Amino acid sequence: MDDKTEKLNLKREVGLVGAVSLIGGTMIGSGIFMSPQTVLSTIGSPGASLVVWACCGLLVIMASFCYAELGTVIRESGGEYIYILKTSGPVIAFMLIFSSVLFVRPAGVAGISLSFAQYVVAPFYTDCPPPLLLVKGMAAVSILVLATVNCLNVRFAMKIQVFFMVAKLLALVVIIIGGLVMLIRGHTENFENSFENTNVGLNPIGIAFYQGLWSYDGWNNLNYVTEELKRPEVNLPRAVVIAISLVTGLYLLVNVSYLTVMTPKELMSSSAVAVTWGNKVLGSWGWTMSVAAALSAFGSLNGTFFSGGRVCFVAAREGHLPDILAMAHVRRLTPSPALIFTTVVSLLVLIPGDFQSIVNFFSFTAWFFYGITLSGLVYLKIKKPELPRPYKVPIILPILVIIVAIFLVLAPILDNPQIEYLYVSLFILSGAIVYVPFIHFKLCPGLLTKLTVFLQLLLEVAPTEKNL
Ligand code: ARG
Repeated sequence: MDDKTEKLNLKREVGLVGAVSLIGGTMIGSGIFMSPQTVLSTIGSPGASLVVWACCGLLVIMASFCYAELGTVIRESGGEYIYILKTSGPVIAFMLIFSSVLFVRPAGVAGISLSFAQYVVAPFYTDCPPPLLLVKGMAAVSILVLATVNCLNVRFAMKIQVFFMVAKLLALVVIIIGGLVMLIRGHTENFENSFENTNVGLNPIGIAFYQGLWSYDGWNNLNYVTEELKRPEVNLPRAVVIAISLVTGLYLLVNVSYLTVMTPKELMSSSAVAVTWGNKVLGSWGWTMSVAAALSAFGSLNGTFFSGGRVCFVAAREGHLPDILAMAHVRRLTPSPALIFTTVVSLLVLIPGDFQSIVNFFSFTAWFFYGITLSGLVYLKIKKPELPRPYKVPIILPILVIIVAIFLVLAPILDNPQIEYLYVSLFILSGAIVYVPFIHFKLCPGLLTKLTVFLQLLLEVAPTEKNL
C-alpha cells in the first residue's frame, strides 16, 4: 500500500486556445440545433425569439465576467462547488454537489447524447420518427466511447475538443452564409410583423429562457478546471470574453438564418431544425447538416465529460463524496473513478429522459445554483475587499444576474406550475438531509474504506494533491 502515500497531480496542460475551445466547444453543442423551435413555439413570435436569444447571451456574458473574478480569487478547480463552499458553507455546497453529481451533470450528458443520437439517425428516417430504442442505444454508445477516451488520456481529450470545435464552427458558418444569401436576395417576409402573437406570460418567458440558456450552458466550464489552466489569472478572463462573444454572435446569426429560410410554422413543426434547413437550402446535400449537428453534440459531450469528472474530484477531496472519486490513475493521471461514476449515472438518466424535459429541469436547477454562487461573490466583495483580485467586476453586475436568476427559478413555478418542479426542488433540498448522517456524523466509514482499497487496486488509482 506504499504507493497510496505517493501523491499525484493533474498537470497544467490547458492554454488559451484549449481554454477557448473548452468553453466554446461545450457551449455549442446540441442546443443551437434543437432549441430554436422550442424557443419560438413557447414565446410565439420570431422577433421575441431573437430577443430571447440575445438576452440569454447578455445574461451569460455578465455571469461569466463575475465567474472570472471568482475564479481568480478562489483558485481551486471545482466551479460553483468550491465557490459556494468557501462563501456559503459546507451544507449548501453539499446540496450542490449532491444535485450536480446525481442529476445536473448526468442530465447534461444524457441530453446532449440524445441530440447526438437524434441527428445520427435522422438521415435514415426521413418520413417517420426513428425508433426510441435506437436513439437511446446510440446515445448510450456515444457516452461510453467518450468516457473511455477521457479515462485514457487528457491530451487526446483536448485534441478531440479542438477538432470538433472547428467542425461545428464550419457548420454554423455555412448556416449563417446560407441565410445571409437568402436575406440579400430579399427573403425578408418572415420578419414582417415579427412581434405578432408574442406570449408575454411569466411561464412562456421562463421556459423560452430555459431552452435558450441550455444552448449557452458550458459558459462556466473553465471554472471547473482552473487548476489545469496555464496562468489562470490571464487566461480565464480572456478565454471567457473571446469564447462567449463569439458564441453569442453566432447563435444570433444562425437564428436569423433559420427564420429567414423557414416560416415560423415550418420551424416549429420540424423535429430537427438543421436538417429541415439543410433540405431547403442545400437540397440533396441536406444530410451534411445532420452530420455536422451530430459532430457538434459529440464535441460538446466531450467537453462536458472533461470538466464533469473534475467536479466529483474536487468534492471528494473536500470529504463530500467518497475518497475513491478524488483519485487519479497512477500513470495516465486521469481522474478515471469520477469519470466512470458520471458515466453510470448518465446512462441511468438516459433511460426515462426525453430532450425537452431534461433541458427544462437542467436549466431550472443550474440557475438556482448559479444564483447562490453569485451571491457568494457579492458576499466576498462586501466582507473581504482585501483579498487579492487580479480581475474585478463592479458589484452591480452580480446583483443584476442574481435578480434574473431569481426570476428564472420562480417564473415557471409561480405561473402555471408543474408538479415536476416541486419534485426537483425537493430533490435539491434532500441534499441537506443526507448531509447530516453521512457527512457531518460520518456514518459507515469502515465499509467505505474496504471498498475504496478494493477499487483502488482494481482501477490502479491513487490520491492527488492540490495544484495551486
Ligand atoms: N450548451 C450545450 C448544448 O447546447 C449543453 C451544455 C450542457 N452543460 C454543460 N455544462 N456541459 O448542447
